[in-house]
Amino acid sequence: MNDKQLLDLESKYCSWGDTVHYAKQLNIFKEAEGIYLYDTNGVEYLDLQMWYSAANFGYKNKRLNEALKKQIDTLPQLACQYLHEEKIQLATKIAQDIEKKFGVKGRVHFNVGGAQAIEDAIKVVRNHTGKIPMFAFMGGYHGRTLAATAITSSYRYREHYGHFSDRAHFVPYPYRFRCTCVEKKEDCCNLSCLKPFEKMFESEYYSVLNPKNNSCEYGAFFVEPVQATGGYIVPPMNYFKALKKILDKHNVLFVADEIQMGFFRTGKLWSIEHFGVVPDIIVFGKALTNGLNPISGIWAREELISPDVFGPGMTHSTFSSNPLGTAAGLAVMELIEESNFEVDVPKKGAYFLNQLKALQKKYPQIGDVDGLGLALRIEICQKDGFTPNRELTDAIMNIGLKGELTAGGKKRGLILDIGGYYKNVFTLAPSLYMTEKEIDLGVALFEEALQKALG
Ligand SMILES: Cc1ncc(COP(=O)(O)O)c(C=O)c1O
Repeated sequence: MNDKQLLDLESKYCSWGDTVHYAKQLNIFKEAEGIYLYDTNGVEYLDLQMWYSAANFGYKNKRLNEALKKQIDTLPQLACQYLHEEKIQLATKIAQDIEKKFGVKGRVHFNVGGAQAIEDAIKVVRNHTGKIPMFAFMGGYHGRTLAATAITSSYRYREHYGHFSDRAHFVPYPYRFRCTCVEKKEDCCNLSCLKPFEKMFESEYYSVLNPKNNSCEYGAFFVEPVQATGGYIVPPMNYFKALKKILDKHNVLFVADEIQMGFFRTGKLWSIEHFGVVPDIIVFGKALTNGLNPISGIWAREELISPDVFGPGMTHSTFSSNPLGTAAGLAVMELIEESNFEVDVPKKGAYFLNQLKALQKKYPQIGDVDGLGLALRIEICQKDGFTPNRELTDAIMNIGLKGELTAGGKKRGLILDIGGYYKNVFTLAPSLYMTEKEIDLGVALFEEALQKALG
């Protein structure tokens, strides 16, 4: 079938609710390789979002695909009440890595999508603390199942689905470019935004704590160490230490949602490793399998998840530790052990960010650029460099999707993802194997799209 016929059928039979049709341009892709996607006419698109950071290790990664093919020919299906080697080895590798880095023993529990793993983390917290409400960040995103939506800040995601009695208490994220504590463009960061949160624990009348027995009404704080959908916001390096001190004092658990920032997106296996705190629970998904046969999971401290307290069937999904997923996950962990991402990713990230900074000097509409490893942000503004400019952001994205850019000497497209509180931030998550030459090309394509959008 040709694109026109397919789009005609799509308009009749496909729901829009599963997040397509954000862009004006509707592309149908046929092939993928490395950092490129190819449409039905064979036009090449440089992808700077890699399936929202699920395909960190490149499309059609040979080694990972081979692991999957091998598993298809040996043990492709198995109900999760029975065991298989890849599941045990994968859990062991993750738990041992965390034990080595954070000095804490724990266990790994699998599920399928990210939001389902978040649900499992919520269950572990509820089971351990007996508390239902959670703290979470404004701008945070933890998925779209009902419980994950309850701790995701955007009201747009809740509005149509009735009252959420378990809605989180949302706290401002330390977003330096749009700090909630100072007037525009002034830099503060003496962690002023944390002070009102700390204050809430001073008296029962601030609504969260019974100081007589130090019982907090909230079970855990769900944290994205680098805020992802919120616009790849990197917090001040000392922020989480200060937050954790408050939480520890009142027995509130710290849950690190690594679903988007895990697996070396930021230059470390877990992005929370940058910030000098030990989480109680880590939630992961996406790049664990490089986007192949998805599995997700949580790691939790032993006392939260040991079989005595979290026994068989405390949560369950038919496909939770499916062998194709665990085989891909294990291959990802082995690939990581043999690679040098901890050195390479920060180096590539710095090279990329330097070029974005140079671009920012040329265009006042680029209000902010920042990044940690290969999680990079470009915040698009009006000419004042601050007022969000959603129209320009959308225009750049749509131009990229048209596949008619010429930087690099041939007709190409550019795939960009938009996030941020005002939908004016390009959240760049390229393949971790992106070369300097490809970074140069990506920057040139971006500049060309920006120039076209500016007219
Ligand atoms: C930080 C974070 N948490 C949770 C999720 C939800 O994961 P999934 O879409 O696999 O349910 C996402 C997805 O983008 C995410 O970025």
